[in-house]
Amino acid sequence: MEKLTHEGIEGLVPYPPGKPIEELERELGIKGSIKLASNENPLGPSPKALEAIKAKLSTLNRYPDGSGYYLKARLSEMLNVYPAQIILGNGSNEIIELAVRTFLLPGQEAIQPFPTFLVYEKVVAAQGGRTLSVPLKGFSVDLNGILDAITEKTKLIFLANPNNPTGSAFYLEDLKPFLENIPSNTVILLDEAYIEFATDPAVASAIELANIYPNLIVLRTFSKLYGLAGLRIGYGVSSPMLVDYMNRVRQPFNANTLAQAAALAALDDHEFVSRTLKLTKEGLKYIKDELDKMAIEHHPTQTNFFLIKTPLGGGKTYERMLRKGVIIRSMESFGLPDFIRINVGLPEENQKFIQAFKEVLGL
Ligand SMILES: Cc1ncc(COP(=O)(O)O)c(C=O)c1O
Repeated sequence: MEKLTHEGIEGLVPYPPGKPIEELERELGIKGSIKLASNENPLGPSPKALEAIKAKLSTLNRYPDGSGYYLKARLSEMLNVYPAQIILGNGSNEIIELAVRTFLLPGQEAIQPFPTFLVYEKVVAAQGGRTLSVPLKGFSVDLNGILDAITEKTKLIFLANPNNPTGSAFYLEDLKPFLENIPSNTVILLDEAYIEFATDPAVASAIELANIYPNLIVLRTFSKLYGLAGLRIGYGVSSPMLVDYMNRVRQPFNANTLAQAAALAALDDHEFVSRTLKLTKEGLKYIKDELDKMAIEHHPTQTNFFLIKTPLGGGKTYERMLRKGVIIRSMESFGLPDFIRINVGLPEENQKFIQAFKEVLGL
């Protein structure tokens, strides 16, 4: 039979999402499981976002505001950019896809550090493009290595800062000389999904640079800090020109009504934001101290998660932890077979993880 699709899609392996708690409990007939596999916010959604959702429920017979007027106006004020520099997405993932569809033709190339967020490479492959991976250097993004890898075929460069799954981050000061050296026909997609968790003051958002470098797109999400992963809302900040191109490609109602209202309210939920940051900081410290006591290698993180080396290997550790009702992430699919990744949970969840990890390792 003739192939119905192209090689890029033939070769794709579906993105492996973190296992849902309900699925694990159904399969094993257990209760009280916890999930630390998808870098979600363990506190639940922002309460102000929940109130805003309730207030909007009765308008669901109407299509969403396709321009995202109010959310973009608020973001514009907060970030000191024009509304025309902002694009909303059904999660920041959708903007990754939009950028690839808009700026990369089949046969063209993208560059990414490796390992990094798995979605970049998949979206490029689905578009019939090719991704060149530049290995991390000492678990950090090698900006000079990426510059050296640029050719006339390079249309897109992906950078996650902080990077997933390593948790490492580069400094804003190091990004500026990098951007100076990027050809003007190459788009840089800088994914800042975890930037709000960064504790090192030199690790800062590059949104202000969108006013200087017209080919830079900075991505942010409401899925992590604001606890709205299930609602699917994120945004990109760039030049009016790039946003205009992506707006031509996007579906008119890609950011739904409830998501827009919830995101708008969450931006002003300062109490929830401080509670999340405090819980993350304390949780990271607890997990770090416990791992240090167990002499388990882990990596300094600027996020809400840890990359952890496991003597059992990622796959086996994942399977054995599942049986103890703890869903973590094996890093095999990220090309790191000796590692797992876990996000900070509630204090009792962090304790449960450490206890189960000790048992699984026989410590
Ligand atoms: C680096 C990175 N970017 C983007 C996302 C997804 O964000 P969203 O939920 O906004 O699509 C994630 C989620 O895990 C991520 O790790």
